[in-house]
Amino acid sequence: MIGVSMSAEERTSPEEITAAAVASFDGCPDPRLRELMRAFVAHLHAFAAEVVLTESEWRELIDSLTATGHITDERRQEFILWSDALGLSMLVDALAHPSATGATETTVLGPFYVAGSPLRGYGESMAEEPAGVPAWVHGRVLSVDGEPIPGAELDVWQNGDDRLYAVQRPEAPEDHLRGRYRTREDGSYAFVAVRPVPYPIPDDGPVGRMLAATGRHPWRPAHIHMIVRASGFRPVATHIFDAASEYLDSDAVFAVKRSLVRPFVERAADDPKRPPGIEGEWVSLELDLVLAAGEEGGEPVDPGRTA
Ligand SMILES: [Fe+2]
Repeated sequence: MIGVSMSAEERTSPEEITAAAVASFDGCPDPRLRELMRAFVAHLHAFAAEVVLTESEWRELIDSLTATGHITDERRQEFILWSDALGLSMLVDALAHPSATGATETTVLGPFYVAGSPLRGYGESMAEEPAGVPAWVHGRVLSVDGEPIPGAELDVWQNGDDRLYAVQRPEAPEDHLRGRYRTREDGSYAFVAVRPVPYPIPDDGPVGRMLAATGRHPWRPAHIHMIVRASGFRPVATHIFDAASEYLDSDAVFAVKRSLVRPFVERAADDPKRPPGIEGEWVSLELDLVLAAGEEGGEPVDPGRTA
């Protein structure tokens, strides 16, 4: 029998493998890419070493990433869903907006944003078909100093009471439950939405299997999305959460911030303040939005859609 014997000193140690992999990026000409790849490999190796990752667990990880690629297409973005469900999206958001500026807080964009929503008039509804209890949302867009900002734009989107965004329903009118609204001279805006309902993130793929295997639920608390933009101010991509919603303390994507939780006031059909065009019971939400002066930029990249 031919054997290869090796003394303990001759064996390549896990630490040496990690050191070699990290050092392989020493010659990377882009300093930021060098920093990213070195740290990524160092942390990836540290993870495997800490948990003593087995070969079958490594195989499962590869299978899961493969399934993530296969299920992702132009309507579904499972990679963003992983990022959201592991809290990475919120961490990146927090790192991008580190200091308290006095502006409305940001939160994740999510996978359902579609650019190019129709411009709608003051007080107009964005529901193209019945989608739940009408919600009169109104307030002002202000600077941190409390000055009204005329001509600011609110780019709004939400799910209906079927828990779905229009992009998830091929048969839905394209502009259903989304719209852009401009503030008036006094900074005021108003629109008719529907009272949002909680919905589960898509859980029929690899992320859903992870949630089920780990005893986590896929639900998000009820919310309306908006991006607020104005010339000379930093845009804010955020949500407004319904204070009466379930799951505020266990959002599947960790996006709830206390300052974004607001009460929707329930109103009777015969309430004298009922805005024109609203029938039956409705709710109202008064909400001022605050922007910090600064670079405009930061326009969200279409993240792809999730069916
Ligand atoms: Fe959402």
